[in-house]
Amino acid sequence: MTEALETREGLSEPLRVLLKDYPREAWEADPGFSQLIQFWFSRHAMFRELCARITELLEAHLDKRVDPQLMKPHHTRYANMLLGGLHEYHHVEDDHYFPKLIVLEEKLEHGFEILDRDHHDLTERLEAIAAASNVMLQAPEDDREAAEGALKEISRLGRLLDRHLWDEEELIVPVLLKHGMDG
Ligand SMILES: [Fe+2]
Ligand SMILES: [Fe+2]
Repeated sequence: MTEALETREGLSEPLRVLLKDYPREAWEADPGFSQLIQFWFSRHAMFRELCARITELLEAHLDKRVDPQLMKPHHTRYANMLLGGLHEYHHVEDDHYFPKLIVLEEKLEHGFEILDRDHHDLTERLEAIAAASNVMLQAPEDDREAAEGALKEISRLGRLLDRHLWDEEELIVPVLLKHGMDG
């Protein structure tokens, strides 16, 4: 099975060993469902939401359902929140959380390498969004091609980000539930 973010369909079987004891449906009711896990989910929800908002705004703009004067500042605001927030969040995961989690479950180490690689791939997508956004922000408001370019990039990121977040949850939450790490 492919591990690349672009074509992956989920974690491979060897990385799903803990998931058998801690299936996703049972996470929330688990007594180990800590504030740390809730915080993790709230961050993931926020990034999914920002992607969805940017996508909706661009679609509304292309359908002429939004005031063109308002589109650009709104887009800039959401895009800055997404790009800056995700960049910083990946650093916190790579530098702070992942190294602590790997030592708890060394058999899952390869999973953390995959997530780390995902972060690099996502950084490339964020750069592509920044470039497409800049083109659109400098283009006249009726330039459909520029808006379609930005929409294409954000849609692609949304799909890849969703894959990454889902797999990351399935790798990490069972480790946190098993070891009761909090804070
Ligand atoms: Fe991540
Ligand atoms: Fe995450």
